[in-house]
Amino acid sequence: MLAETTTFTLDGITALPVRVEVDVHRGLPGFQIVGLPDTAVREARERVRAAVANCGFEFPMQRITASLAPADLRKAGPALDLALATALLGAAGELAIEPLAGWALIGELALDGSVRPVRGALAMAEAARAAGRRGVIVPTANGPEAALAPGISVLTIESFSELGSLREGELPGRTAEAAAPGDASRLPDLADLRGQDHLRAAVEIAAAGQHGLLMIGPPGAGKSLAARRIPSVLPPLTGEEIIEVARIAGACGVENGEISSVRPFRAPHHTVSAAGLVGGGSPPRAGEITLAHRGVLFLDELCEFNRPALEALREPLETGFVTIARASGRQTLPSRFALVAAANPCPCGRGEDDPACRCSEAAARRYRAALSGALVDRIDLVVGVGQPSAEELAGPPGEGSEAVRERVIAARELMSERLGPGRTNADAGPDEVASFQVTPDGARLLAEAHRAWQLSGRAHGRIMRVARTIADLAGSGPIEEEQMAAAIQFRRRSR
Ligand SMILES: Nc1ncnc2c1ncn2[C@@H]1O[C@H](COP(=O)(O)OP(=O)(O)O)[C@@H](O)[C@H]1O
Ligand SMILES: [Mg+2]
Repeated sequence: MLAETTTFTLDGITALPVRVEVDVHRGLPGFQIVGLPDTAVREARERVRAAVANCGFEFPMQRITASLAPADLRKAGPALDLALATALLGAAGELAIEPLAGWALIGELALDGSVRPVRGALAMAEAARAAGRRGVIVPTANGPEAALAPGISVLTIESFSELGSLREGELPGRTAEAAAPGDASRLPDLADLRGQDHLRAAVEIAAAGQHGLLMIGPPGAGKSLAARRIPSVLPPLTGEEIIEVARIAGACGVENGEISSVRPFRAPHHTVSAAGLVGGGSPPRAGEITLAHRGVLFLDELCEFNRPALEALREPLETGFVTIARASGRQTLPSRFALVAAANPCPCGRGEDDPACRCSEAAARRYRAALSGALVDRIDLVVGVGQPSAEELAGPPGEGSEAVRERVIAARELMSERLGPGRTNADAGPDEVASFQVTPDGARLLAEAHRAWQLSGRAHGRIMRVARTIADLAGSGPIEEEQMAAAIQFRRRSR
């Protein structure tokens, strides 16, 4: 007899439908899977065999052929187990699976029949809706994530044995509730950063305008501490962005399936490869920049990262997406993130102005080469960070994240009024920058700076964008002289 179920397989962060057809007929007992299964799918035979028997169903002692269609699509991972086991019992006549028509089945089976969570449940639920399915049946742990998908019913099951309900003609499982997204209340707070007024201002400006931020200073000054508190001052993700971020995190198996309105913060180690950072490899995976989509990518110890990895960042930083090669052609992954980086001024960290610095001139120059690359040229804000004083460290805590976040949100509203929904000053184009209102004194100051330092066109635009954000944090008026002066201070230190 023949039976068919529907499931999904992940390709990068995209879920693609897979039809599972099982044929059971007389002959020498055997179990064969065809249709480009990977190792995990081939091993499904053993999991399905054990799970079926341990859930009190009869495993057919006949010749079993399972075909996964479309035949030319690579099927990866254990998420196909549930659909395979169900089609098998349907084909063997053990279960009448007609009630499952229009439903997709997703889940890995343990040997005892319990249904284990899989990666990509949200992407799969969305794909099920796009394919016109009525609903999906998913592992209990994936329910809150899958139920975020609009317009599709989600049922959850704990064990394969629940499929026994089909004997009464009923669908198995319980209706899933969509996850209630977590918020910023449990994040580390910017109040922990004492002193460092200049760095604090830079963090607020970067958060408001979505500007890139580079902090240069000696070890132990609070650079990493400040960077890790940036998510707490960023505006929460919108409803659609929550789904977008959860889809990516779910498909990549990060965040333990926790759904949150807090923007992602990714801090890859400096040994990360170019493929690890931007995506790719074999099998192709999303990189850190895609996991940082809609949030922050933090490169701590920037000068220690390998050059090819940093070079690979340039294009996605400008376009907001990255294209990676796959067996089945190219795939475009989203990567709109704010770049935050920290660096020591020289290998020993003291900086060449400090007499205790023993770095050779050549070593210091090699080290700083990373700071003069094309990547850093695209970072809007550069801030020099000194050591906090003993008084500052012993003093009262700084302003808390909530108050800063409120100003950031207000500034963002001005930006979307001016530039369009969701847009920020960091991605203002040349024409938009040229249309920013500046007071005569502000314009004169910028012209003077331009002459004094022979600013490039890019540096000019950077100062204007940062100045606009500083002005937006203060209200909606034209850029004033002192706001322009503050923006000029965050100009890259040219040394
Ligand atoms: N400005 C500061 N306010 C409060 N604590 C600080 C500050 N600077 C440094 N510290 C303390 O020193 C530790 C190391 O700071 P860190 O941010 O890792 O320095 P950096 O990244 O600049 O090398 C922090 O965990 C914190 O305990
Ligand atoms: Mg650090």
